[in-house]
Amino acid sequence: MQIFEQIAALRTQIGDWKAQGLSIGFVPTMGNLHDGHLSLVKMARERCDKVVASIFVNPLQFGPNEDFERYPRTFEDDCLKLQLASTDALFYPTVAEMYPHPQTQTRVVVADDITVVFEGATRPGHFDGVATVVSKLFNIVQPDIAIFGQKDFQQFAVIERMVEDLAMPITLIRAPIARDVDGLALSSRNQYLDAKQRQIAPKLYVALHDIAQALSSGNRNFSDLEKAATEQLLREGFNQVDYIRVVDPQTLAPASVDQREFAILAVARLGSTRLLDNILITAA
Ligand code: PAJ
Repeated sequence: MQIFEQIAALRTQIGDWKAQGLSIGFVPTMGNLHDGHLSLVKMARERCDKVVASIFVNPLQFGPNEDFERYPRTFEDDCLKLQLASTDALFYPTVAEMYPHPQTQTRVVVADDITVVFEGATRPGHFDGVATVVSKLFNIVQPDIAIFGQKDFQQFAVIERMVEDLAMPITLIRAPIARDVDGLALSSRNQYLDAKQRQIAPKLYVALHDIAQALSSGNRNFSDLEKAATEQLLREGFNQVDYIRVVDPQTLAPASVDQREFAILAVARLGSTRLLDNILITAA
């Protein structure tokens, strides 16, 4: 695996590959890789001739009181994992390489309707930071396909909107959520859970599953289902449920009774750890 810290050097390599007619699959990450990230690399490997991954902890998507400085950086370990997954190139830029004008960086601002709700409501500016870095990474790598996880459902919707609105010539793939055997969605945040919290954590998936089941059998009382799930989670030991909502998968607007595709989005807290999960279903 070749490692590139500079945009120019990576561009030269990608230009060579493109000249040979090879397809490029791209998996952007912030590092601290687990099997969820690696499942994305595997998908890219299956679909493309060359696989490019990036590791960049993007300051633009962290709020002033968020954990940018403390975000786990495990570069050596990540490299090993990417290499084992047959990644061809890793882009690992510094902040200065990515943001030459730190105070006056040009930004990509995706429409409010999907960026100020849910995660955007508690993290102002977060999705502008994501859209900005992803569009810059797309410009650098110029991939044929780019793979993101369904785990960050809203992030995928934001990137999908950006690609469509700005006519970016890239096919997006939404990879299924990689889960632990007990159903807990893999996340670097899971390492912050103590033994007792770790036992409670998979109940979030159970609650989502219960709603999915109800929707599949024709129940359309969205707010009742959301309320029952919230109460269930609080009873089971979650400290707070930030939201659990049935929405339209494209617009993230509240679901309506006549649609068939639903996304159920949830964030619940165990101690100070926010667990994020979702289920996408097509009801009969
Ligand atoms: P990061 O949190 O490192 O995640 C990188 C990719 O891995 C994202 O597309 C995310 O949805 C996916 N992922 C995380 N956990 C997953 C799981 N359990 N199953 C499947 N996919 C999973 O998301 C970001 O980085 C950043 O916002 C980024 C897009 C890189 C822009 O900075």
